[in-house]
Amino acid sequence: MSSQGTKGDVKDLSLAKDGVNRIEWAEREMGVLRLIKERFAAEKPLAGYKMSACLHVTTETANLALTLQAGGADLVLCASNPLSTQDDVAAALVAEYGIPTYSIKGEDNETYYQHISAALDHAPNYTMDDGADLVSSLHTQRSDLLSNVLGGTEETTTGVIRLTAMANDKKLNYPIIAVNEAETKHFFDNRYGTGQSTLDGITRATNLLWAGRRVVVGGYGWCGRGVASRARGLGAHVIVTEVNAVRALEAVMDGFTVMPGMEAAKVGEVFITVTGGLHTLSKAQMEIMPNGAIMANSGHFNVEIDIPALEEMATSHREVRPFVEEYTMPDGRRLYLLGEGRLINLAAAEGHPSAVMDMSFANQALGMEYLIQNKGKLEPGVYNVPAETDQEVGRLKLQSLGINIDTLTPDQQRYQDSWEEGT
Ligand SMILES: NC(=O)c1ccc[n+]([C@@H]2O[C@H](COP(=O)([O-])OP(=O)(O)OC[C@H]3O[C@@H](n4cnc5c(N)ncnc54)[C@H](O)[C@@H]3O)[C@@H](O)[C@H]2O)c1
Repeated sequence: MSSQGTKGDVKDLSLAKDGVNRIEWAEREMGVLRLIKERFAAEKPLAGYKMSACLHVTTETANLALTLQAGGADLVLCASNPLSTQDDVAAALVAEYGIPTYSIKGEDNETYYQHISAALDHAPNYTMDDGADLVSSLHTQRSDLLSNVLGGTEETTTGVIRLTAMANDKKLNYPIIAVNEAETKHFFDNRYGTGQSTLDGITRATNLLWAGRRVVVGGYGWCGRGVASRARGLGAHVIVTEVNAVRALEAVMDGFTVMPGMEAAKVGEVFITVTGGLHTLSKAQMEIMPNGAIMANSGHFNVEIDIPALEEMATSHREVRPFVEEYTMPDGRRLYLLGEGRLINLAAAEGHPSAVMDMSFANQALGMEYLIQNKGKLEPGVYNVPAETDQEVGRLKLQSLGINIDTLTPDQQRYQDSWEEGT
């Protein structure tokens, strides 16, 4: 039963104390965000602005929310995925920190969109999104609110792709900063964060041994590189499938076996999709997968595995463990789908480690500040995080880790800047 009220809709407010403990634990690993929060508390750069954020409601997001609150923002939060909410965190945000939050782990699609609508009722001046469902709902269902909105940020690859398509169609009404494109985001969050936490989610759901296992990774982008290298690190034989020749070549030269999806389907034991695209695991592949094959997705939406085809083919299905659904095929083979095909690292584990979300969310906070500083100066469209912000986040992360680096001497700088000097 949910605890619904004027300040949000969460599963159970009595979970709040556990949420606070875990939010504080995550904060220890988020040194960059801590520095930004201290500055925001003193300078209040976000004061006077309403924000609606649609993010995975995790301990790290709570620390971002507290940073925005410290900066003076009037913030409301909803989930960016029906299965990624940490209910104790949602309870803590409402009961302990006074941040209205609309999210319940396992909510159905209807509730998911009701929660997005509730966050939009806040009539935001700024949006913060992860996957672009909030921005898409705002433009299609709640366009009456668009005139209030001055800008927004977007967290992930899939969201940036959707927003770029909207901008190309001249349908995007305001400027949005693509946090995903910051080097201090995708180099670390997508690669190391998704890499580690995807295997964590699959391990927690199944308790499988990775060593010696044939693991097929669909997509060798930022996330795929991380997933493949972490699986190899645990002793798996990793096969990569790709549609992009350069990325496929990179996988080959990184030492992975590359083959078409239909060939991989015959030999794989664990299949992990991270493409952001439709039906990376298709009906035809499921028809030839070995008995016992496990399928998991860590891409943003639950469309990478053709679940409707799986359901249609199966003669029966049942839940065999939390987050593990067994589908029996007409020929007797059993295939396993993890976490309803939703991002497995958030469904069955805790999402990315805090230390990596520290940088992604530092970019979110600084992106918001940048938008406010440049209010009215940016045309509608999708913008990269300014290079200085990226450098600043990298510098602060190193500082928080106690690591110093060199700087160019004046001679070295002059050499870099000149075109006349050769050998
Ligand atoms: N689970 C998480 O916490 C998390 C974190 C970050 C990003 N994401 C999501 O993961 C997805 C991938 O993100 P990314 O940053 O790696 O994107 P990316 O664009 O860097 O990589 C995607 C790769 O998939 C390949 N691809 C596309 N269709 C394919 C197909 N049918 N078969 C094989 N390969 C195919 C592309 O060529 C590309 O190389 C996105 O949906 C993103 O939003 C999830």
